[in-house]
Amino acid sequence: MSEPEARIAPDEGGKPKPAPLERPADPAALVIFGGTGDLARRKLFPSLWNLWSNGLLPEDFAIIGVGRKVASDTAYREAIGASVREVAACPPEDERSFDGFVERMCVVQGAFEDPATYGWLKARLAEVSARHRTGGNVLFYLATPPAAFGTIVRRLEAAGLTREAQGWRRVVVEKPFGRDLASAKALGAELHAVLREDQIFRIDHYLGKETVQNILVFRFGNGVFEPIWNRRYVDHVQITVAEDLGMEGRGSYYESAGALRDVLQNHVLQLVTLVAMEPLASLDADAVHAEKVKVLQTIRATGAVRGQYGEGTIGGARVPGYRSEPDVDPQSTIETYAAVRLDLDSWRWSGVPFYVRSGKRLARRCTEIVVQFRKPPLTLFQQSGVAELEPNRLHIHIQPDEAISFDIKAKAPGAAIRVEDVRLSFDYGSIGEGCAATGYERLLYDALVGDSTLFHRADMVEAAWRIMTPILDAWSSRPAPDFPNYAAGSWGPPAADTLLRRDGRRWVVG
Ligand code: BG6
Repeated sequence: MSEPEARIAPDEGGKPKPAPLERPADPAALVIFGGTGDLARRKLFPSLWNLWSNGLLPEDFAIIGVGRKVASDTAYREAIGASVREVAACPPEDERSFDGFVERMCVVQGAFEDPATYGWLKARLAEVSARHRTGGNVLFYLATPPAAFGTIVRRLEAAGLTREAQGWRRVVVEKPFGRDLASAKALGAELHAVLREDQIFRIDHYLGKETVQNILVFRFGNGVFEPIWNRRYVDHVQITVAEDLGMEGRGSYYESAGALRDVLQNHVLQLVTLVAMEPLASLDADAVHAEKVKVLQTIRATGAVRGQYGEGTIGGARVPGYRSEPDVDPQSTIETYAAVRLDLDSWRWSGVPFYVRSGKRLARRCTEIVVQFRKPPLTLFQQSGVAELEPNRLHIHIQPDEAISFDIKAKAPGAAIRVEDVRLSFDYGSIGEGCAATGYERLLYDALVGDSTLFHRADMVEAAWRIMTPILDAWSSRPAPDFPNYAAGSWGPPAADTLLRRDGRRWVVG
């Protein structure tokens, strides 16, 4: 047998070859509005480097950073190069390849609202198209505050930059996609005034995470789970997105968001759709989106709890409460924790609640889906401790470890019948290879090849807001009198435990 082909083998030009079965993305220029911002430095450039070093970006590629703070091409390349070295999971080893990556960056200095910026951008695009043979294809990435989205797309259109005379034009939009149903519709209308829906890529980095993509493979690539994936066998589903971090300098953004808008309305509802959707007839983007929308349309929020952290201890260190974070109102009524009970009006899920929660400054970082199955109808093993045993649970661990585990019962060795809880588990790190991905690699690549499967479609965004807007309205009309109501380092406010306890259930992680 011949030796398996190495995944990456640099060719004579120092450019790595793509992995088998993957092709490099189409020739293109990537224009990043907010090209020096936090998102660009922490996530986008490290991901682009991962793609480049895995041979998944074409030779004919260029990146233009747009922003007020970018000074010159040289300074930009130095600054971005340094932050990629610092942040990337796989720091550059092949210096020639890294130089090739950095050389493809240049800048346009200017304000997003200034029409002159777009004139300079047009000239730079013509220049890089000639130099790097990008073929007129342009992916615009709006890594900016949402308030700038409308202005940027209008200015792009006015400058003729969204016209697909030669090559394609696409726009990636970062969340939040509006702040309630009405503003989401208004944003949708602003984007649609300039772009077709298939030119808009609403990004959700959760959908790029490996274990999240694995949910569909787990459900539909295995024959054994689908028959029990319904109300006859499932007692309830829980989704936890817990973070131990606080504001990390994002206080002013968070003051206009809160946990429900920041994480539950988008990332968590997407996880719900992946767990709850009907089997797919195809993996075509429209088919996936249609099934997700169908799930969202069945969901009603039937209980909600909010919380805000006070000071506390995390990892042995004292940390301040939310109201003492920089750029946060000392009387703030914004929630840093939200838990919601969702009921799905469908034949598959009727009577099976989905409990979802997310919060900042919780006991530890942990993103996990738990599917809890019904107990056996007969308790045969009362004498052997089974009455206290836990029900079967399937855990899909998304962060920090990527794994799937299943809690079952087994007989402990010995003459007596003694039943114990044991765990079957599979660690995602045990298959595959390569460096930890940020979640953005897959999504940037997909936007460059025009595959919108893992992005939000307009109707999906609106359906998700329809679920959460009544809670937001109720909360804004009645500011919480008891904030702060959980200590940093705890698992959230006691009322979130009551939300499940009154249904005879409790939160579980791990
Ligand atoms: C972002 C939120 O969308 O997701 C942040 O704006 C949050 O507040 C982050 O911290 C969580 O992402 P991850 O990948 O760290 O779980």
